[in-house]
Amino acid sequence: MTVAATPDGAVPVAPRVHWIGALDPDLRRFDIILRTANGTTYNAYAVRGSHGVAIIDTVKIGFSETFFRRLESIADYDEISTIVLNHLEPDHSGALPELLRRARRATLLVSPQARLMLKGLFDPADLAGRIAFVGSGDRADLGDRQLEFLNTPYLHWPDTQCTWLAAEGVLFSADFLGCHYCDSRLFNDAVGDFRFSFDYYYGHIMRPFRTCVREALDLIEPLPLRIIAPAHGPILRRDPREYVARYRALAAPAVHGVATRTLLVFYISAYGATRRMAEAVVAGAESASTAAGEVRVSLYDLEGGDAGTFVDLIEEADALVFGSPTINGDAVKPVWDLLSSLTVVDLKGKLGAAFGSYGWSGEAVPMIEDRLRRLKLRVPLPGVRARLAPTGEDFAACHDLGREVALHLLGRPTPRTVDLAQL
Ligand code: FEO
Repeated sequence: MTVAATPDGAVPVAPRVHWIGALDPDLRRFDIILRTANGTTYNAYAVRGSHGVAIIDTVKIGFSETFFRRLESIADYDEISTIVLNHLEPDHSGALPELLRRARRATLLVSPQARLMLKGLFDPADLAGRIAFVGSGDRADLGDRQLEFLNTPYLHWPDTQCTWLAAEGVLFSADFLGCHYCDSRLFNDAVGDFRFSFDYYYGHIMRPFRTCVREALDLIEPLPLRIIAPAHGPILRRDPREYVARYRALAAPAVHGVATRTLLVFYISAYGATRRMAEAVVAGAESASTAAGEVRVSLYDLEGGDAGTFVDLIEEADALVFGSPTINGDAVKPVWDLLSSLTVVDLKGKLGAAFGSYGWSGEAVPMIEDRLRRLKLRVPLPGVRARLAPTGEDFAACHDLGREVALHLLGRPTPRTVDLAQL
């Protein structure tokens, strides 16, 4: 049955469970960086028990009026005993201060990781004496039914938790398993095809936290799920496990080929100097990996591929080496395009290095190295810069750079003599 959200009414999700959220069909960018062809929804829910009503999440502040109208259509404020915020980002907590003012006897339940964020987001006077911190195994008693909590941090903020209503098999999953897709028909078996949005949301919001995604799936998969009620996008009542399985596939660890370690060399070159340096880096890396037989080395010209093409490769690689000429005191745009697209990738602990030719100043290499460090890569080796046409010495330095990166990957770096005068 298709039940479309009206401007004011609450929408039944399960027995004594209602959607009381808001539609935002005109949004085209979320948090500045996410594109939303179909807008989004801010999903909030009300769960009624014999001894009280729980509100799970609120909405972005500009949508408060709608939220309160829907809420008032199914509950009185005096009935609200519990407010659960699965995630404190303002698109879900915008109406919280006003809700606390109206629902005077309600207690706010959040994860322990939410403690610091509460201070930054709300006036302590609104919260005084009204907060409890809950973790996995804790329950909120609504009389004839309980809410249980699953601590699922970093999906995608440290505070994220999921809330489980065992009586109806409903999982309130916060941003997890959600997407930016607005359709007033609300349920996945009634709305349009939103698979692209589901995957896009995973790729841009959850992907950097793949390890946490897998840990959360370990908690969720054993549950007898009937409905997944996320904080954005369609409510998943038909085949909810398919969406869990999709996340499991998207978050699966990389499957390497024969090589156990992978090194990628990216470059762009105006007159061929940086390209020939790149080839020397690759040759050096191969000279190390041939001996050990364990590093797979790949070379890519950034002039021939969009940044997005390489993100999957980079996520699965162990070392990244970037070559750029210096033009107008900077690395060139395709290099920055690629580096800026890596915020969706967990890069911590990968090896990084840089090289490139230059005319008179040569800023590109140190700028790339700085960016790599800020992305949490390890950059243990000084980059190689060659003035104009690289000399035999420059190529030898590039060869050494590639070789040393590969040896680092193999756990056999050449011991270095550090010149204390340079420290
Ligand atoms: Fe939908 Fe992370 O807020």
